[in-house]
Amino acid sequence: MLVLGIESSCDDTGVALYHSEHGLIGHALYSQTALHAQYGGVVPELASRDHVRKLLPLLNQLLSDTKTVLADIDAIAYTAGPGLAGALLVGASFGKSLAFALNKPAIAVHHMEGHLLAAMLSSPKPEFPFLGLLVSGGHTQLMAAKALGDYELLGETLDDAVGEAFDKNAKMLGLPYPGGPELSRLAQSSIKKPGTKGRFKFPHPMTDRPGLDFSFSGLKTFALNTYHQHQDENNIQLKADIAIAFQTAAVETLTIKCRRALNQTGLKRLVVAGGVGANTALRVGLNNLLTELNGEVFFPESIFCTDNGAMIAYAGCQHLLLRKQDQNHTISVYPRWTL
Ligand code: KG4
Ligand code: ZN
Repeated sequence: MLVLGIESSCDDTGVALYHSEHGLIGHALYSQTALHAQYGGVVPELASRDHVRKLLPLLNQLLSDTKTVLADIDAIAYTAGPGLAGALLVGASFGKSLAFALNKPAIAVHHMEGHLLAAMLSSPKPEFPFLGLLVSGGHTQLMAAKALGDYELLGETLDDAVGEAFDKNAKMLGLPYPGGPELSRLAQSSIKKPGTKGRFKFPHPMTDRPGLDFSFSGLKTFALNTYHQHQDENNIQLKADIAIAFQTAAVETLTIKCRRALNQTGLKRLVVAGGVGANTALRVGLNNLLTELNGEVFFPESIFCTDNGAMIAYAGCQHLLLRKQDQNHTISVYPRWTL
């Protein structure tokens, strides 16, 4: 079965073709980063309009690159939520209309389930059951993934998502949008001296009490206060020192909670998903943890950590194989949708 996946929930337009037997056939991605950079964040209306402009040319490019024609497609999977309502509507109306025109099934995919399964695009594939750590710009969640579609939320952030905290700290340090990767680069950077791990010690929020919930908004305030206290040194080294202190606290907090969740559930496999999963320090921390626990950790390829069409095609394909599909031609999106 050949499934076309469409992703348009935020500021990336993604399309991909996934085949149930042959795996990923191809994917194409258009990032709107440059469009939103001047505003320091995603402008929803501009995002929707750009998806409208880019989706069809991107699909044509994918079809031509993979020497596929529309008639080869057996089903269409699209992100139906959560995300920006207007942006979601572009992909949903496009996907459902195309499916209707081709007389093929369509399936609504949950964006976070797409992220959760993105590591399955790589080999070796994680098998169910596993602990999922979803770390994106909008979510920080720990999930017990028991089987396809059977996910139990174990803990989540009570305020900012970890990606959001990376972005806000980066903005405060004057780094360009999108801040997460920039802050991480600054933390690792060897500009003059590398960020001096240990100069500032940031708190590890909510690790001193039981439970698997997170809170990242306090780290932003802590970073801001540290910055103000040392403003006389306002230089790149101070910024690098704050960047590494923030990143270390965020990574260690996530690692502590993963250890706790693995102990609590008895699960031996950890699957990381979402944009922050591309962070090298997090990858190192979680690799060390799972080695210590004699378990396994799986990360998607970096390109499939952030939003993309391949994870939507993959997730849609797995559900279609279980004969799930949209039951009518209504176009619905769910900007707030729990997994
Ligand atoms: O999953 P994603 O592409 O979009 C959402 O669904 O939110 O995640 C984007 C988030 C942003 O907050 C971005 O700053 C963060 O992931 N991110 C990173 C890195 N790469 C992306 N954060 C830290 N280090 C990175 N290398
Ligand atoms: Zn995402």
